[in-house]
Amino acid sequence: MTTQTEPGPPRPAPSGGGGPVLRVAGLTCAIGGAVIVSDVSFDVAPGEFIAVIGPNGAGKTSLFNLLSGLMPATGGTVTLAGHDVTTASPATRARRGLGRTFQSSSVFAGLSVAENVRLAAQARLGGSLRFWQRVRPDDEAQQVATRSLERVGLAARSRDLAGSLSHGDKRKLELAILLATDPAVVLLDEPMAGVSIEDVAGLTEVIGAVHREEGKTVLMVEHHMDVLLGLADRVAVMHHGSLLALDTPARVTADPAVQEAYLGDAL
Ligand SMILES: Nc1ncnc2c1ncn2[C@@H]1O[C@H](COP(=O)(O)OP(=O)(O)O)[C@@H](O)[C@H]1O
Ligand SMILES: [Mg+2]
Repeated sequence: MTTQTEPGPPRPAPSGGGGPVLRVAGLTCAIGGAVIVSDVSFDVAPGEFIAVIGPNGAGKTSLFNLLSGLMPATGGTVTLAGHDVTTASPATRARRGLGRTFQSSSVFAGLSVAENVRLAAQARLGGSLRFWQRVRPDDEAQQVATRSLERVGLAARSRDLAGSLSHGDKRKLELAILLATDPAVVLLDEPMAGVSIEDVAGLTEVIGAVHREEGKTVLMVEHHMDVLLGLADRVAVMHHGSLLALDTPARVTADPAVQEAYLGDAL
């Protein structure tokens, strides 16, 4: 069913022990007779960077929707840091450390860059709920927001309206909002979409730093091979809802089955 370049057990995470941070086993989603994600299994080690590639309609976004709980699985399991979250709500998964980038529309254009991040930090710290303890959580939220904005290189834009940012900077803001919630595992679905060529390098740099320096585990759907080859420990290839390959970038690009899936146009 799957194609591998080497024999042996399929796709263990190259872990140094302690178990995978994410385990996907037989994950399947059938909608109205169409199987859009089919029997996908893999482990992700803490701190790993996995790039997810595949032709349009291969099921990459659907896989992320299943992982984050936006779509219900019809088969298989998702285990996050040892907890079975297969039927858990997106909010529960977020509390267990799974974060995904917000769509551009969820950035409040009429609020400042700093306010956008502070709201996310406040939600995590519970400041808006525990009103009798307002002062400290608000201070803390402010600090978390400042750190997150520094991390993505947007500190100088703190007071500007989020709506005034370029596409590339909006993506950085989304990343800062995500970092403010301190997720262990970060899902990024095509973070370079709509970003100008000049901004791609800066955004790539920021994502790489978040992975290396913050120790985040990252799964990223990305079409730009040049971007992900420098970032990814392993590349997962989706094709017709299945996981066609999951291996080092060099081995995946040399895999004839992967080349066949792309008909040579993306690799
Ligand atoms: N909610 C849904 N209902 C029905 N079909 C869907 C739904 N979401 C995605 N699909 C279908 O599943 C397939 C995979 O889509 P998607 O996961 O968006 O692919 P990718 O992100 O790899 O381009 C497509 O054929 C798409 O039309
Ligand atoms: Mg998609």
